[in-house]
Amino acid sequence: MSKPFVFSGIQPNGDLNIGHYIGAIKNWLKLQEEYDCLYSIVDLHAITIPEKVKGKINNNIYDLLAWFLAFGLDINKSKIMLQSDNPDHPYLGWILNCFTPFGLANRMTQFKEKTSELKETISCGLFNYPILMAADVLLYDCDIVPVGEDQKQHLELARDVAQRFNSMYEPIFKLPEPLIQKNGARIKDLYHIEKKMSKSSKDEKGIIFILDSKENIYKKILKAPTDSKNSIQFNNQQPEIANLLNIYAGITDLSIKDIEAKYKNSDYKQFKEDLADIVWKFLENIQSQYHKYISDKSYLNKILDEGLAFSQAITNPKIKQVRKVLGISKT
Ligand code: TYM
Repeated sequence: MSKPFVFSGIQPNGDLNIGHYIGAIKNWLKLQEEYDCLYSIVDLHAITIPEKVKGKINNNIYDLLAWFLAFGLDINKSKIMLQSDNPDHPYLGWILNCFTPFGLANRMTQFKEKTSELKETISCGLFNYPILMAADVLLYDCDIVPVGEDQKQHLELARDVAQRFNSMYEPIFKLPEPLIQKNGARIKDLYHIEKKMSKSSKDEKGIIFILDSKENIYKKILKAPTDSKNSIQFNNQQPEIANLLNIYAGITDLSIKDIEAKYKNSDYKQFKEDLADIVWKFLENIQSQYHKYISDKSYLNKILDEGLAFSQAITNPKIKQVRKVLGISKT
């Protein structure tokens, strides 16, 4: 029996923050120890908001790859591919578009949120984005998809579309299972606690970027708003402290209970100072790894070439199978 297959991706839109690590990459690292893993730099997703990446996408791609390596993706265990390198992704994306009821795609909450933000500049690509994501995972008969909470609905759509295709034609697509952490699946903006930590926020003081300086990290964490209870406990009434606890647990691997016990008699100042120390020590090391990898472009290109070959060895036969089942191939 072959090992279960894992696929996941991140957009190269220059937005890498601590939420991406805690919500997704951390699980990627664990999974590579046991499973066959393919991780993707999903640039075709990134161009669904062209204003965000115009003139920067190429650099963003190499940056993200260097970050993947810096975090600990091991190319002897995981493969990494650039989504746009393999045309089978958008090819299957188009086919799945034809199997996705408009009403189903129109229910995606992330699209609704973006519509209110981007208004008339919103692209059709952004509407179709979850369908391309469905293609990404269904192409590989993927078993596990490690993601943050915001991607759960998109994976449900992938399962629905696969089921629809399977029941209309032949059961050729495996239904993927999302893998979402119990804690840290949605790291929130430090200032806008109702929103996920993401660059689409108006200001950046609530976002801990992976490339932030020591000074910025301390400033952001020490000034992060909290309540007046001065009690370090994880509950719904203290969403800001719960968010900081999730960040603490996400970086250290201590359980929330252990952290609560550790700070039972401490005040917010002490807790925040410790958290800033922990986050900075972690990122300082990742940043130095990143600087090492980003300067070696030929190595980075080699990784993407190998990732592409690995990927196409799986997707070319899959596309053939899909065409045959659909009846759109030569006979
Ligand atoms: P993207 O690029 O927005 O985010 C990448 C991953 O990071 C997670 N994430 C977070 N987790 C916790 N807290 C946060 N604040 C936070 N911000 C981001 C996301 O949930 C995601 O897992 N559509 C996807 C990329 C994609 C994909 C795929 C993923 C394309 N094809 C196939 C899995 C499988 C996206 O835009 O993620």
